[in-house]
Amino acid sequence: MAEQTNVQWGGRFSEATDEFVQAFTASIQFDQRLYAHDIQGSIAHATMLNKVGVLTDDEAKQIVDGLNAVKADIEAGNMQWSIALEDVHMNVEKALTDKIGVVGKKLHTGRSRNDQIATDIRLYLRDEIDAICAEITRLQQGTIGLAKAEYDTIMPGFTHLQTAQPVTFGHHLLAWNEMLERDFQRLQDCRKRVNQMPLGAAALAGTTFPIDRAITAELLGFEAPTENSLDSVSDRDFAIEFTSAASLIMMHLSRMSEELVLWTSAQFDFIELPDRFCTGSSIMPQKKNPDVPELVRGKTGRVYGHLTSLLTLMKSQPLAYNKDNQEDKEPLFDTIDTLRGSLRAFADMVPAIIAKKGPMRDAALKGYATATDLADYLVVKGLPFRDAHEVVGKSVAYAIDKGVDLSELDLAELQQFDDRIAEDVFEVLTLEGSVAARDHFGGTAPKQVLAAVARAEARIAARH
Ligand code: ARG
Repeated sequence: MAEQTNVQWGGRFSEATDEFVQAFTASIQFDQRLYAHDIQGSIAHATMLNKVGVLTDDEAKQIVDGLNAVKADIEAGNMQWSIALEDVHMNVEKALTDKIGVVGKKLHTGRSRNDQIATDIRLYLRDEIDAICAEITRLQQGTIGLAKAEYDTIMPGFTHLQTAQPVTFGHHLLAWNEMLERDFQRLQDCRKRVNQMPLGAAALAGTTFPIDRAITAELLGFEAPTENSLDSVSDRDFAIEFTSAASLIMMHLSRMSEELVLWTSAQFDFIELPDRFCTGSSIMPQKKNPDVPELVRGKTGRVYGHLTSLLTLMKSQPLAYNKDNQEDKEPLFDTIDTLRGSLRAFADMVPAIIAKKGPMRDAALKGYATATDLADYLVVKGLPFRDAHEVVGKSVAYAIDKGVDLSELDLAELQQFDDRIAEDVFEVLTLEGSVAARDHFGGTAPKQVLAAVARAEARIAARH
């Protein structure tokens, strides 16, 4: 007879699990991170079993007190996690029975590790989404605050990374804020589908015990019990959806990172990052490297990788639970850690950005950024836009030849290209005139930036 088969499922086995197979199939190395949520779920399950009469008051009390004691042990560092006990569920259950004796074995009535793990991940992910959303909010607050301070700071706006038209730095920062706003909304939407309770699906078909899933759902703060037991234990689409939202956030952070890296270079020289977010070089004494944004940009790749892993993990799985799903945890956990770390670094760093107004303005003066303003001016004077485009093209070529900006040409020089040009042209050719003229909802005029800041602040305030 087998002496060493698993105590929790070894009844029908005649030999012990191969030692390597035991380690290979175990998940305790990484799923122990779920202990608090596993215990939270078990307490709710035991409480429900008591309410429907499956456990007596005394049994339920012993189990709940025992689970709380196990949790305290884990938090005090007094838990010996065992590979032989495979996963967090069986480790906790064994610790419980060691503590309270045979009554602990009743906890698993009307439940399976399949609905248990589906519940644990949802409880855990729900908390993580809330923490991530708080970090996004903090980053948005810092971004909006900087936008307010820099509402009329002029910089070149780019398309194709070529100087296009002047914009305000505040407006640029509010573009970041819009990306983050959608990221926040996406996570809130994802949270609704995470917040559904699988417990009661048991292994796959439900249970013969008279459970009341509404009670458990309410105890755990879930919106509702899931509709279908087979679906409940099998699909991990909610984790994929989260990782997809996380990939979009990392994509946005990597775009911001790229801009920060460019802007801190001597070639752009638009901003300075405080020393605490940078490192030096061991060989080149002059270097101050923007490591934090570079690393965030680099970490984006691993989150995309986790999204691909999870999609591939789920594809072709027949209903209902398959062991494949144990592989959902490491990609999900690393996505969470990477995202939280990146957001935290950004939320700390963005408000500390120092804008270098002089170099930003000089750069905006260099690339003929007000050429479109001259074309628009000619349109107002009666020239069709396409013809105005042609006239301005010639003026720019002339100015390039002379090595000056359009605003530095005198009236007579400008009039060679079109005699409708008059003294008032110089109001539109200045950087300030150019940005102030884009004075509509969503435009870059400083006045509009301040209005947009107020709207962004109101949206954040409405979250609490
Ligand atoms: N460790 C498993 C997982 O992460 C828990 C569920 C296992 N269920 C089973 N019947 N083997 O998916």
